[in-house]
Amino acid sequence: MAREQPGSNGVDLAEAEAFLRLYYAESSGSGLFDARLREVRKQVGNDGTYEHTPGELTFGARVAWRNSSRCIGRLYWQSLRVRDRRHITTAAGIAAEAVSHLREATNSGRIRPTITVFAPARPDQPRGSLTEDGPRIWNEQLIRYAGYRQPDGAVVGDPRYAQFTALARNLGWPGGDGTRFDPLPLIVQLPGRPPAWFPVPADAVLEVPISHPRYDWFAELGLRWHAVPAISNMTLEIGGLRYPCAPFNGWYMGTEIGARNLADSYRYDMLPAIARGLGLDTSDERSLWRDRAVVELNVAVLDSYAKAGVTIADHHTESRHFLSHLRRENKHGRPTPAEWSWIVPPISGATTPVFHRIFHDADLRPNYIHDPIAIELGLGRAPQAAVRSAY
Ligand code: ARG
Repeated sequence: MAREQPGSNGVDLAEAEAFLRLYYAESSGSGLFDARLREVRKQVGNDGTYEHTPGELTFGARVAWRNSSRCIGRLYWQSLRVRDRRHITTAAGIAAEAVSHLREATNSGRIRPTITVFAPARPDQPRGSLTEDGPRIWNEQLIRYAGYRQPDGAVVGDPRYAQFTALARNLGWPGGDGTRFDPLPLIVQLPGRPPAWFPVPADAVLEVPISHPRYDWFAELGLRWHAVPAISNMTLEIGGLRYPCAPFNGWYMGTEIGARNLADSYRYDMLPAIARGLGLDTSDERSLWRDRAVVELNVAVLDSYAKAGVTIADHHTESRHFLSHLRRENKHGRPTPAEWSWIVPPISGATTPVFHRIFHDADLRPNYIHDPIAIELGLGRAPQAAVRSAY
């Protein structure tokens, strides 16, 4: 299917038609395909765009998850809760709904996969243009921790967000308490308007302090992480329409936190400290101190989330679930596109069944797309013009 840059003639009708065909083929009792297609053609002819029915939006958001080749957690794609907030027109309204999203998705720890969909982009604007193509949340996720760069160049907090933190400060955010785990504010932008920041209230951010089931000293490392991973800078594409502001969440797989966020040398870089706690010789690679430290960190993450009553998956169980998902999809005659390097967990790859497999990838629609500008914004690298317009 050709995915042309939408020009002044608006939504690509071939994409709209392909989506409607899929929707009517997979959902029973949703009405008449031919009549709906005629209606959509007419709408696009008149306005250059069309509006999804609530049923189409829900189905589209779920299938976009099903088509996400990097996600190992897709077994549950049909359970995605869809919050239709396309009518919200203010930045403050978007921020408030993002906060409600967090509360509903957190559900006191029994995490519910959820998406909130705000207004679509106007189809007559070039894809990925910064100011004219629909509302945006600049943050990569609704909850992320600030990284405060110190005069000596070191970062207190998450180094990944040092630049985003500086950007938020530039926009007037006074900063948090200065800990390693200060939630960042949301930066919301409407088409043609300067960005605005909004705090995420502390009681909307469930966090888990990290301790270890056997090592008492572990808690003294002072580590914690948030309960809900809610990606907020990917564009939901359905039937030729783009929703650049559609934050969504699942629950964590432990390795995302224990083998990446807290372990990567360019993130919280905790393995040396943990190895010292374990009494390992960090001067000798062959002691495998990194490997032993990363395993204990992952034990600690899984145990801490379980003790706090917060949903989390381990990589062995989630790998098996993914293979069940593949089989189930196959039974329905559907391919499951997958990227091996993302599906295989970042530790103990070969001890999970997904390692010993070949996957085929494909770029299907509906889907969640990273547009290049959104990636830059998520890391705090906003074009100067966009930031200047804030003053
Ligand atoms: N890896 C990202 C993080 O650590 C989250 C990506 C989405 N993960 C998920 N389980 N839905 O924050």
